[in-house]
Amino acid sequence: MLSEKMVKALNKQINREIYSAYLYLSMSAYSTFEGLKGFANWFMVQYQEEMTHTMKIYDYVNDQSGQVKLMTVAQPPMEFGSPLEMFEKTLEHEKFVTKCINDLVDLAIEGKDHATRIFLQWFVTEQIEEEANDNEIIAKLKLVGKEGNGLFMIDKELAARVFVPPATSEPSQA
Ligand code: FEO
Repeated sequence: MLSEKMVKALNKQINREIYSAYLYLSMSAYSTFEGLKGFANWFMVQYQEEMTHTMKIYDYVNDQSGQVKLMTVAQPPMEFGSPLEMFEKTLEHEKFVTKCINDLVDLAIEGKDHATRIFLQWFVTEQIEEEANDNEIIAKLKLVGKEGNGLFMIDKELAARVFVPPATSEPSQA
């Protein structure tokens, strides 16, 4: 059983995750238009991941007999500048999401909501991975600068990313 406050906070997070999906879909579209197929693929996979994050929370609220309430999804930007700028914006956004997840954990601890605290652990770990991925790509992009060959190689590398649906059996073995 979730508190009203927690249902409200989780519904807000559903909205943020959908917005994240929308943002990365927009980055994918922009990359395609810019002729960066690998970047477009990477962000398309990211879009799919964000939709699984959305549905994880959606299912959890339902399972806990809360009411999912969907809200307006904000329009994402359409232009993102250079690949480096695009990934810096991605990292910035993920840092914001990490803060939101941490706030949710604080709320769960405050309300002695052990189930939600355990549920959110998956997201805490996921955020570490998301930020690490972005940092790694940013470092590579800084290394190659505006050099065409380097950018071409990174684009090729990002083209190999494949969407892997997260395991559905929770809790984790940790
Ligand atoms: Fe669902 Fe990228 O945070």
